Amino acid sequence: MAFDLAMLAGKTILVGGATGQLGSVVVRTALDAGARIAIAVRKPWQVDKVKAAYPGANVLVGCVPDADGEAAAGFAKGVNDAFSGIDALLCCNGAFAAGAVGRDASGELQELMTANVLSVANLVRGALWLMKRRKRGAIVCVGSASVGLGGANVANYLASKAALHEWVRALALELVGTGVRAAAIVPGTLDTETNRKAMPDADASQWLPLDVVAHAMFTAAFAPTGAGPLHPVQKVR
Ligand SMILES: NC(=O)c1ccc[n+]([C@@H]2O[C@H](COP(=O)([O-])OP(=O)(O)OC[C@H]3O[C@@H](n4cnc5c(N)ncnc54)[C@H](OP(=O)(O)O)[C@@H]3O)[C@@H](O)[C@H]2O)c1
Repeated sequence: MAFDLAMLAGKTILVGGATGQLGSVVVRTALDAGARIAIAVRKPWQVDKVKAAYPGANVLVGCVPDADGEAAAGFAKGVNDAFSGIDALLCCNGAFAAGAVGRDASGELQELMTANVLSVANLVRGALWLMKRRKRGAIVCVGSASVGLGGANVANYLASKAALHEWVRALALELVGTGVRAAAIVPGTLDTETNRKAMPDADASQWLPLDVVAHAMFTAAFAPTGAGPLHPVQKVR
């Protein structure tokens, strides 16, 4: 069933990974639907660039480096105060890298853990106390449908997304009764420019359009089906 974007009007949504391909569709869609958006970027120079991309009083942009808990809490508090609460945190941040173990870049596992788990956890920790205080809010992260299937040359990626799945699963349980929910959507391959360039001969017809994935995030945040914390994403909505 299609998610009614009108539900986003007046909502405050904090977005991580907004500079990315999915994140920018999430931001644009939510803004067009009348939401207020706060964007956490990770490098100081990105702040002005992102502000210029989304001008207007309904957008706040702040810098939250990966492991900076104080920056995350400070930005979330500023957003909470300016926009009277945070209704959802949508973490579109993440990264992918492939390579056989031993031939992969040194530190690649750590980088993927940072991108796919630690940076997400940092944002969640920054916003969660405010959501708990309001007794409402939703946190939605982006996992991967490849977790659990194995795959050659993607050990680092799969380990980091698997860790995210378990982190979200445990968080969701821990939040029962608080009014705050946590979930991860679990998509297959996204139809992005990066993937089209990287896999020019692949059949992209089965890939997930970004608006479908954005809708899945909005649905998980604002119209959950009760299916549990990990949500597969279907191409047809
Ligand atoms: N693409 C796919 O086929 C696919 C499939 C399944 C799941 N996913 C997941 O879907 C999400 C969006 O994917 P996408 O294709 O839109 O990715 P993308 O275009 O590469 O964007 C990634 C975003 O994450 C941010 N990021 C990267 N490393 C980070 C780190 N260490 N700490 C904090 N933020 C970091 C980037 O910020 P900067 O601009 O600062 O680098 C960017 O905003 C990701 O979680 C990805 O893993 C993607």
